[in-house]
Amino acid sequence: MIRLIITILHMLCQALARPHQNCLELDNAMQIKAPHLGEPYLLTPGPLTTSYEVKAAMLRDWGSWDAEFRAVTAEIRSRLLDMIEDHDNLFDCVPMQGSGTFSVEAMLASFVPREGKVLVLSNGAYGARIVQTLDYLGRDYVVIDKGDYMPPRGDEVAAALAADPAISHVVVVHCETSSGILNPVAEISEAVYAAGRELLIDSMSAFGAIPLTVGEIRYEAMVSSANKCIEGVPGFGFVIARKDALVAAKGRSHSLSLDIHAQWAHMNKTGQWRFTPPTHVVVAFLEALRAHEAEGGVARRGARYADNCAVMVSGMRGLGFETLLKDRWLSPIIVTFFCPAHEAFEFTAFYERMKAKGFILYPGKLTVVDSFRIGCIGQMDGDVMRQVVNAARETLAEMGVPDAAPPEIALIERAKLAA
Ligand SMILES: Cc1ncc(COP(=O)(O)O)c(C=O)c1O
Repeated sequence: MIRLIITILHMLCQALARPHQNCLELDNAMQIKAPHLGEPYLLTPGPLTTSYEVKAAMLRDWGSWDAEFRAVTAEIRSRLLDMIEDHDNLFDCVPMQGSGTFSVEAMLASFVPREGKVLVLSNGAYGARIVQTLDYLGRDYVVIDKGDYMPPRGDEVAAALAADPAISHVVVVHCETSSGILNPVAEISEAVYAAGRELLIDSMSAFGAIPLTVGEIRYEAMVSSANKCIEGVPGFGFVIARKDALVAAKGRSHSLSLDIHAQWAHMNKTGQWRFTPPTHVVVAFLEALRAHEAEGGVARRGARYADNCAVMVSGMRGLGFETLLKDRWLSPIIVTFFCPAHEAFEFTAFYERMKAKGFILYPGKLTVVDSFRIGCIGQMDGDVMRQVVNAARETLAEMGVPDAAPPEIALIERAKLAA
């Protein structure tokens, strides 16, 4: 009896100590369930852990030309457009088969004229991939290369544009998933349009959780994919672009299958995708979009991820881990941690032990110091993140690592990040 009273008092104290988290947990209690088949949580920024309902939506077969499937395509396009709050009806949405990279390539090939010139703002692997894509496409470009994670700033963009009138377009990665940094797209957009140029955004890992409303941030086109913050399964991406840019894109693409203008024109005329769509993935995505709305749209999805991030980061810091980024630059999408300096720490062993406890982590991508990443997106809440921290604590103990503090060089590297 006394034990029962103590337990109830303990629960009450916990509830009072973290009212915000508890409110989120209660809200999400209906939605967030552990993976149905007991598979590990994917703490990776896509593919990510999806709901049972999203996976179950794939159990039916669909005719890609059939009116019912055409209605599905129309609904996903219109729901995606709702997220950018395009009240003047200036934008349209074009889904594109393939992984996210296919859509990035399609966007670059379709919106940058062959005689255009691009300023790429690169601070990680996905910025570097944009540069590589432009090489394939034979488009002229210059790069502001900020290394592994330093943010490109509006004043640098303004200076680069003033120095080179040939630049027609600027491309930026919204959340650079390789470090987790949330790039300052609003100030970049201001600099781009003040100089009379056009902005293209790779919002792959951010769209759906971080607002990109057109009334707040100006851009010509942005790209994302099914298996990120909207929590669908992988198989297609989508471009959301100004209709006048879509019209102007006619005949520009180097590629038949990645021609955004042709896909857009065909979809608007027939309601169908030009080539076989990933029907099951598309239907699962509609389920995911409905769940996104039921959760409360971009704001609530972003709030859940921010809570996941806050719970996980404070727990990991409590174990001695240090984040690459200062709080100002952390995104609620994915967080990079330095590997501990202790000689008994080895990432592969840490990864395997964490996986055995039900959590798949992500290796780091920094070139200067060893690191790993933990994603905050997908069907997870603060409770799951507390389990992640407990699993990390147990794993360190099993490995004989008493303290997760990083090497001195990591902190020197981090000190370079101003603000
Ligand atoms: C910002 C960003 N851009 C592009 C991509 C490439 O997407 P995919 O791996 O689906 O081709 C990713 C993947 O995580 C990403 O995070």
